[in-house]
Amino acid sequence: MSKTVTFIVQPGGSLNGSARVPGDKSISHRSIMLGSLAEGITHVKGFLQAEDALATLQAFRDMGVRIEGPKDGELTIYGVGKHGLNAPQKPLYLGNSGTSMRLLSGLLAGQAFDSELTGDKSLSGRPMRRVTEPLAKMGAEIETTEKGTAPLKIKGQAGKLRGIDYEMPMASAQVKSCLLLAGMYAEGITSVTEPAPTRDHTERMLTGFSYPVEKQGSKVSISAKGSLTANDIDVPSDISSAAFFLVGASIAPDSDIILRHVGINPTRTGVIDILRLMGAKIEVLNERIVGGEPVADLHVVSSPLTGIDIPEALVPLAIDEFPVLFVAAACAQGQTRLSGAEELRVKESDRIQVMADGLQILGIDAQPTADGMIIQGGTLGAGRVISHGDHRIAMAFSIAGLKASGPIVIEDCENVNTSFPEFVSLATNLGLKLISEQAS
Ligand code: S3P
Repeated sequence: MSKTVTFIVQPGGSLNGSARVPGDKSISHRSIMLGSLAEGITHVKGFLQAEDALATLQAFRDMGVRIEGPKDGELTIYGVGKHGLNAPQKPLYLGNSGTSMRLLSGLLAGQAFDSELTGDKSLSGRPMRRVTEPLAKMGAEIETTEKGTAPLKIKGQAGKLRGIDYEMPMASAQVKSCLLLAGMYAEGITSVTEPAPTRDHTERMLTGFSYPVEKQGSKVSISAKGSLTANDIDVPSDISSAAFFLVGASIAPDSDIILRHVGINPTRTGVIDILRLMGAKIEVLNERIVGGEPVADLHVVSSPLTGIDIPEALVPLAIDEFPVLFVAAACAQGQTRLSGAEELRVKESDRIQVMADGLQILGIDAQPTADGMIIQGGTLGAGRVISHGDHRIAMAFSIAGLKASGPIVIEDCENVNTSFPEFVSLATNLGLKLISEQAS
C-alpha cells in the first residue's frame, strides 16, 4: 500500500546539542559491493540502514551472497570472490537508487549470467546512456528503453569485455565507478579521466581491499589483474545528511551544534567551503582517518550569511547539497548565483526547477537557469511546497522552517527514508519544530 507522508514545520527556533547523523550512503553501497566480491569475511559498522543502501544489499543477496544484518549499522558479508556471484532469479529492483543502478550495470556487464535492473518511477526516468554508452565501447551488451532509461537488460559478457581509455563528458562518480567495476573484468587496462574531481570512495575502498588502482592526475586506471581481500569497514556519517544541520545551525539565531564523526573526504566537502564563503562559522575538530576515509566532528554556530557567486570548481564537490544550499542562499543578504550545475536537473528530481518553484511559493525571488539558479536573499514566508518524492528537497524545505515567518507544509516526503529515516527525530531533538503525518 502506498503511503503519503507530509512534513509540517512550525516557524522559528534554533538548533542546539550534538548528533551523529547516519552512515554515508555512497560508502555504504560500495561496502556491500566490494565486500561481496572479496575473498573472506568483511565486517561493516556504521552502515546506512536506509532504502537506497538496503536495495544494494538485497541485490547482492539475490545474487547468492550471504549477508548478516544490518543490526545497529553492523553487517557481516561472506565474500564470494570476484567470480562468485550467482545469476539472480528475478530482476534486481533498486528502488530510488541511481548509485545502485549505475554501479551495478558496470559490475554485471562482465558476469557469466544475464540480469535485469529495475527501479521506481524516478529512477526509471533517469539517464542511463551515460553508463551504457561507454560500457558498449568495452563490449557490453545492455538494452535500455528508447529514451535510454531503465529497465536495463544486461547480457553478461564474461571474458569478452575490453578496457577503454574514457574521457568522461560530465563529472560523475557514478560513471567513473561503473567503468572501474567493469574494468575489473575487462582485458587490458580501463582508464577513466574526469573533467573535475568527483568523490573517490570507490578508488579508496578498492585500495583498502588490496585491489590495484592507479591514479595519475585526473585519470584512474584498473585492470582485471587483481583480487579483493576482505577488509573491515567503518562507515563515517554522511556529510550530505550533516549538510541540513550545517545550514540549519547557520541560519537559525542562537544555534550551536556539534555533528560527530562526519566524513570529510575532500571530494565531498564543497558544502563546508561554500557555506564558509557565505560567512558560516564551521569548525572542523578532531580530524582523524577511519578506514581510509577522513572523519571529523563539525562545530557550527549561527552566523549571518551573505550571497556569493558559487565557484564552479566546488559544484561536483557539493553536488547533493544544493537543495539545502539554496535555502541558505534564500536566507542570505544579497544575491547568490549558481552556474555549471546542469547535473542537478537529472537527480532524483529536477532539483533546479523543484527548488525554484518551492522557494517562489515561500516568497523568495529564485530564478532558475539552464545550469543553476539566481537567488535574492529575502524573507521566507509560509506555504505548501511539493518535494516531488525527492528526499533532499523534503529535508531542505524542513530546514527552511527555522527562518520562515509561518508554517511550511511539505508534501510527498516518504522518500526521506531512502537516505535518512531518522531525520524527523534527529532534527526535532536538535530543535526543529517538525512533525510528520502519514496517510494511506
Ligand atoms: C554518487 C555520486 C553522485 C551523487 C550521488 C551518489 C555516488 O552522482 O549525486 O548521490 O555514490 O557515486 P553523480 O556521480 O552522478 O554526480
